[in-house]
Amino acid sequence: MKDRNSGKNSLLREEKEGEIRVDSERVLIDSKKALVDPYGRKVTGLRISITDRCNLSCMYCHNEGADCCACGPAGYEMSPELICSIIREAASFGVRKVKFSGGEPLFRKDFEDILACLPPLKEVSATTNGILLEKRAKALKAAGLDRVNVSLDSLDPEKYGRITGAPTGTLEKVIKGIDSAVEAGLTPVKLNMVLLRGINENEIDAMMDFIRPYKGKVILQLIELMNIDPELSKYTIDSKAVEKSLEERASEVRVRHLHHRKQYVINGVEVEFVRPMDNSEFCAHCSRLRVTADGKLKPCLLVHDNLVDIGEAKSPEEIEKLLRLAVSRRKPYYTPIIEVKRLEKMKEEKKMEE
Ligand code: 5AD
Repeated sequence: MKDRNSGKNSLLREEKEGEIRVDSERVLIDSKKALVDPYGRKVTGLRISITDRCNLSCMYCHNEGADCCACGPAGYEMSPELICSIIREAASFGVRKVKFSGGEPLFRKDFEDILACLPPLKEVSATTNGILLEKRAKALKAAGLDRVNVSLDSLDPEKYGRITGAPTGTLEKVIKGIDSAVEAGLTPVKLNMVLLRGINENEIDAMMDFIRPYKGKVILQLIELMNIDPELSKYTIDSKAVEKSLEERASEVRVRHLHHRKQYVINGVEVEFVRPMDNSEFCAHCSRLRVTADGKLKPCLLVHDNLVDIGEAKSPEEIEKLLRLAVSRRKPYYTPIIEVKRLEKMKEEKKMEE
């Protein structure tokens, strides 16, 4: 039983297999209604970009898979009503977790309004660069945000500036933002650290030392760099070596369902490793559908030609149709072995027929 007793969404919820209890009312998620893709992967999470606007220009930023530059002028952004309709519909088909991202989601002054109109969910989180978090943390928690991820690649102000393009003094603001998030109970706060060869790969221990005093309220999330640009390949780290070193030092290793991410407990701190590249396990256990800031359902971060436009406010029936279309277009970035075998068999059968 998880008690999310903050803000307007405060409801007692109890989750059982395929079923969610909301106060005394039981909402059954009929397994026939679940959002399941052609590879049998059930969608249980949405990652929604609510703005392309950002106050940083990180050297590696994939802009949540958007084609445009995240730091350009604000374009069309979905209204809180549309965002909530999408989430409400998705929740009725088994979506339990929603993560808001950007750009920088705190650029939306109406973020609290968006949070306040959400249906009951298991977890509502946001990924932020933390710069504007200090003043907003309490209000966001009160409006229904459960926790945050804060992007923090370095504790060295010079390196932080080099990676993010931020002016002097920004790192201090981010650290204050983390403190406020912890105080407000937006926990566990996960620090997203994208590992960059020759820049911050030697800072993993410093980052673990930084989070230790937060006594479990802050978790370190190491992220493998996604080379969206050949220019970035020189910064690619040896993920296997990092993983091996974490494993050797860990007193406990756990595996999360989402993306089969590994979690390590090292010297009293929790470290998660997100390894999306060339990792079939990552795709096989992907349970997320993305929504772009301009209102398109995006089946995969790395695929750009299969988006489904939601357009202006739609009826629940229309949203359902579009959700199902987007889910039907979900393809793992790799070909699962079962699919390889099926294709081989089909080829053989065709040959026999000829
Ligand atoms: N590789 C890995 N992670 C990235 N992010 C953005 N671009 C990349 C990339 N190229 C992630 C970081 C950041 C969040 C907003 O998006 O984790 O914290």
